[in-house]
Amino acid sequence: MSRLVIDGMKRLRGETTIQGSKNSALPILAATLLCGDESVLFNCPDLLDVAGSINILRYLGCDVDFSDGTLTCNSRGLDRSHIPDSLMREMRSSIIFLGALLARTGSASMCFPGGCEIGPRPIDLHLNALSEMGAVIENDHGVFQCHAPDGLNGAKIALSFPSVGATENIMICASIADGTTVITNAAREPEICDLADYLNSCGARISGAGEGTVVIDGVEKLHGTHHAIIPDRIVASTVMAACASAGGKVCLNGIIPSHLGGVISVVEESGCDISIENNTLTVASNKRLIAPRVVRTMPYPGFPTDAQAPIMAMTAKSKGTALFIENIFENRYLHVSSLLRMGANIKVEGKVAVVQGVESLHGAEVEAMDLRGAASLIVAALGAEGETTLAGLKYLDRGYENIEVVLSSLGGEVKRV
Ligand code: UD1
Repeated sequence: MSRLVIDGMKRLRGETTIQGSKNSALPILAATLLCGDESVLFNCPDLLDVAGSINILRYLGCDVDFSDGTLTCNSRGLDRSHIPDSLMREMRSSIIFLGALLARTGSASMCFPGGCEIGPRPIDLHLNALSEMGAVIENDHGVFQCHAPDGLNGAKIALSFPSVGATENIMICASIADGTTVITNAAREPEICDLADYLNSCGARISGAGEGTVVIDGVEKLHGTHHAIIPDRIVASTVMAACASAGGKVCLNGIIPSHLGGVISVVEESGCDISIENNTLTVASNKRLIAPRVVRTMPYPGFPTDAQAPIMAMTAKSKGTALFIENIFENRYLHVSSLLRMGANIKVEGKVAVVQGVESLHGAEVEAMDLRGAASLIVAALGAEGETTLAGLKYLDRGYENIEVVLSSLGGEVKRV
């Protein structure tokens, strides 16, 4: 079993280019099913979750090639509409294939995408929306059998919560459904816009992505395209938190600054200097951090739930008390027990965590329990005295591409053993 060994308190200096976004790549990979043709995706990150999607695409009959960040998928040969349990459970966001398969083949069967470490992840919003579009969905002992006997039709879908995955599933399915679909209370995350850009460049007619109402005029057919995946705003947030924790000055290249609004304001409130020029953000941390007052996770453009753990690790050593309120997932403080082992002072009560800043953290043997929790332990370890050994890298590798190489190139002492 591999682990990261991190020797802390080494200031970070230099520049790094931020990887492509996992949360954009996954729905776009599912959407390639609609084209029946070749799509070429640039800036695709090399991650376990991307490998999981490639396995599903290949099983379904697609030709996929992936090297040096360029992924080519030709979905002409698609000849299956069932995804086996083993592939569904490899990655939690595999549910995003439901809308795509249903739209392309008229049927889909797959099991529930499995339990989750950060709290229950129901898919009722996905299923209700697809039913409103004409899908008949039966739950046969945990396997969803979905058919569209009369085809899929446009519908007015009002989401009770702006779910990212449900918005994406509907957009994908509605792209080639009959008529117009209107999603209200749609998610507004940048990854929704990236998916719309990909689909529109395949010939779809989607407007309003990034706003609360998204309108999709169904077209008969899509075609292949070339598309560059947007940079990963959560990886960028993690590198900012790492620099703030360890101290130093780091330039993040290839980012989209407007995607980082909620995180930038918290990092600045913590006493770091941030400057932005075009697609480069420079973060500098030269003194003890100040605790930000309240960090509330919210749907975009609010503070992202995925950045909560790394930013919490950053605040562990700051002066004062920070309050975190996790509004998106029920069980997203799994990293706290490991931060406590490293000397942090954090109390959790339901969705609230109170972080009382301490003078210093110390290295420890810790184990990640989820993806962003893994990132938070790296952030803490970089700012801790002595050595930290981090296990549970199967979570980290779902979302971070060669993070040890990135951090080592910035002067961090991070080794995979
Ligand atoms: C996506 C991201 C994930 C991020 C999350 C919130 C991907 C691959 N993953 O996950 O990194 O943390 O957005 O920004 O893009 N919900 C329901 N019923 C549903 C669907 C969701 O109740 O049918 C609830 C969830 O339990 C959760 C909330 O809605 O409490 C947000 O979930 P959602 O926005 O759907 O997150 P994901 O798309 O799963």
